Amino acid sequence: TPPESIRNFCIIAHIDHGKSTLADRMLQITGVVADRDMRAQYLDRMDIERERGITIKSQAVRMPWAGEAGTVALNMIDTPGHVDFTYEVSRSLAACEGAILLVDAAQGIEAQTLANLYLALENDLTIIPVLNKIDLPAADPDKFAAELANLIGGSPDDVLRVSGKTGQGVEALLDRIVAEIPAPKGDAKAPARAMIFDSVYDAYRGVVTYVRMIDGHLHPRERIQMMSTRATHELLEIGVSSPEPKPSTGLGVGEVGYLITGVKDVRQSKVGDTVTTARTPATQALPGYTDPKPMVYSGLYPIDGSDYPDLREALDKLKLSDAALVYEPETSVALGFGFRCGFLGLLHLEIVSERLSREFGLDLITTAPSVIYEVTTDAGAQITVTNPSEYPDGKIASVTEPMVKAAILLPKDYVGTVMELCQTRRGTLLGMEYLSEERVELRYNIPLGEIVFDFFDQLKSKTQGYASLDYEPSGDQASDLVKVDILLQGDKVDAFSSIVHRDKAYAYGVLMTERLKKLIPRQQFEVPIQAAIGARIIARESIRAMRKDVLAKCYGGDISRKRKLLEKQKEGKKRMKMVGRVEVPQDAFIAALSGD
Ligand code: GTP
Repeated sequence: TPPESIRNFCIIAHIDHGKSTLADRMLQITGVVADRDMRAQYLDRMDIERERGITIKSQAVRMPWAGEAGTVALNMIDTPGHVDFTYEVSRSLAACEGAILLVDAAQGIEAQTLANLYLALENDLTIIPVLNKIDLPAADPDKFAAELANLIGGSPDDVLRVSGKTGQGVEALLDRIVAEIPAPKGDAKAPARAMIFDSVYDAYRGVVTYVRMIDGHLHPRERIQMMSTRATHELLEIGVSSPEPKPSTGLGVGEVGYLITGVKDVRQSKVGDTVTTARTPATQALPGYTDPKPMVYSGLYPIDGSDYPDLREALDKLKLSDAALVYEPETSVALGFGFRCGFLGLLHLEIVSERLSREFGLDLITTAPSVIYEVTTDAGAQITVTNPSEYPDGKIASVTEPMVKAAILLPKDYVGTVMELCQTRRGTLLGMEYLSEERVELRYNIPLGEIVFDFFDQLKSKTQGYASLDYEPSGDQASDLVKVDILLQGDKVDAFSSIVHRDKAYAYGVLMTERLKKLIPRQQFEVPIQAAIGARIIARESIRAMRKDVLAKCYGGDISRKRKLLEKQKEGKKRMKMVGRVEVPQDAFIAALSGD
């Protein structure tokens, strides 16, 4: 297809604003999916995505659209909608010339949409503002059209109104894409350059790499080269998805499609990398490539220690489809053998642990998420800490922690409450803006460590679910941080160590000691529970020694009941961990680590 007859676009939308439904309607209206084959959320392949209603992996689909200017190939590139995947979003946007800004006509714009809109503007994309769900009785398109026009300029009349559900306005939207989004430009004679915007592991075909051709042409059977590593592969298959994969005789300037080389690991086909031909390689890679960098670390431990080899195998497999996942073995006094894993963010962590339990049947304990601290000791040693229990005990010269710029969108009535929340989380207000009469954007510089600790849930509950949050890294900052250890009968329980601001150390110590007192059953002896900074005890509770015999509960005769109780106790013992002389039920660890 010549570039003049191609339009590459994506849809920017907040979760639940109806991106998948609109995509479904487009597939149907352009005829690439027959009505009888239509199923909801056609493009979301992974079960986990469909169940949770979130899109994790982007995909591209090609749809022919016959308009006034003849038939045009529309390439719709799907973008993930969550903060953890900003880099993937930015690469998807870089593969497009235009974006549909899709906003629920009953909700208005959200923080996530705003963040992705800014990314799209940075990439010079043409924006088509669209209000969705106008069939809803609660829709207020006039109000939100004004909000959108206010945000991106232009008149409220330019804002298209559609319903992905009924199909109303969708044809007009397709016509507008053709009319307004520029055709791709590139040098057909130059050495091939294709940008990877997604790479997906497929159990049968190996890695499927989605690319946008910038210059030149790629053909099946030729050798291609990844410009970041210079690794070469044979191009076994090249084609387009519409939406099922269709092999073709090659891809030229402006086209969007997929490549298969037989590699089995997405790390060999990285998002953002440039693909060229091995025979006449391009000299300059496309701009914008970076390696995914983990932001949040957590320890994953099998509840049943004998599952450790299975956990290793499962992580090795997951890695093939998840270029951002990193892990290394780790041991914990309290939890045994496990892995310290790095994630892009909390959702990424949640997805990985859910896949480990769902696809691999593993029961895991996840330790409290930690960010990356850079510690300089008095002796001048530089230590990177991703596990609080490894925080150096001696004198510290300085510590830095990662900061983020957070944007929170909320109804104006909640501004006070949310500012208070941000203040207690050590946030610094950067700015406040009214998007409309009722909706406000708050911008904060805030430690990532405070956000990974339950911030989002707090924000939601304090605003009845009306606030939305987005953030991006804003560098490291020196802070007055200390490590609080938790001791059981004088022994450190490494899984409970935490790095907190000095002003919050006492509160954390009290919280954890009180919580553990409730969770750990009485033993034959008294067990002190202490919180300490170095050698200084800052909080203390104790569990009194056990007096009662378990069997005392069974009044006399009933032997079978007694036996049952003994067996149950034995069963429970199996899931006990010893910390020094203290028996701690596995459940207590889980509860203490997950409580709020
Ligand atoms: P994520 O994949 O989570 O980002 O969500 P999404 O933006 O793809 O939203 P999705 O298409 O899954 O729609 C979210 C909900 O809104 C679903 O319950 C849809 O049925 C509903 N919905 C989507 N479009 C419309 C619409 O035009 N009208 C009405 N009434 N409901 C819609």
